[in-house]
Amino acid sequence: MMRLDKFFSEQKILSRKEVADKIKKGCITVNGIVAKKADVKIDENKDVITLDDKVVQYKKYVYLLLNKPQGYVSSTDDPRDKTVLDLLPPELRKFDLFPCGRLDKDTVGLVILTNDGVSAHNNLSPKRHVKKKYFFTTADEYTNEDIEAIQAGITLADGWTTKPCEIERVDGKNGYITLVEGKYHEIKRLFGARGNKIVFLQRVSFSSIVLGDLPEGQYRHLTPQEENVFVSNK
Ligand code: URA
Repeated sequence: MMRLDKFFSEQKILSRKEVADKIKKGCITVNGIVAKKADVKIDENKDVITLDDKVVQYKKYVYLLLNKPQGYVSSTDDPRDKTVLDLLPPELRKFDLFPCGRLDKDTVGLVILTNDGVSAHNNLSPKRHVKKKYFFTTADEYTNEDIEAIQAGITLADGWTTKPCEIERVDGKNGYITLVEGKYHEIKRLFGARGNKIVFLQRVSFSSIVLGDLPEGQYRHLTPQEENVFVSNK
């Protein structure tokens, strides 16, 4: 249950003042009856609310999938660099969205943006082992010994031993790597530990949510099925 004005203001549809104006003009209905007061309590999940004769579905959280281009940082504000939020239109920036996990500035691909802090936290928790898959290109050809060593886990310079992962070779310098954790520069450091270098990195999936053919710099809302995957990775 919530107040009618909160129903609109929380979803960034109308400010509280605008709700009052709309009520005065008789433009809002609750279950077919013209609303008279902004502080009336409604059941956001059951009651049918209309604004200007259109039904307004209640949606608390926003979930977006962005194809991050190079040169953008995965944070909400930065003194020097453009952030992933700069790629969104003003009406979506109102929602206090943040990226669920970080890609390096020069890494491209799938980033989920949301204002659902609990689900973001759950998806990032090291305990959940959510799979993240990347396409990579190395500077030099990598060997089958490199694959075996990286897949088994490598102790990096800071003493952290990486969790087992999976590599699928595409050809000499290209492949896919699937991680269940996300340590700082993990993929670059894994190949660095083998004397190689990552020259291109693109995240292609997060859990069962895939980037697909969304153009770089573009975003879309998660589908209801994808939203379900995201919120139930607990
Ligand atoms: N590993 C990296 O090295 N960089 C990323 O952006 C993601 C994983």
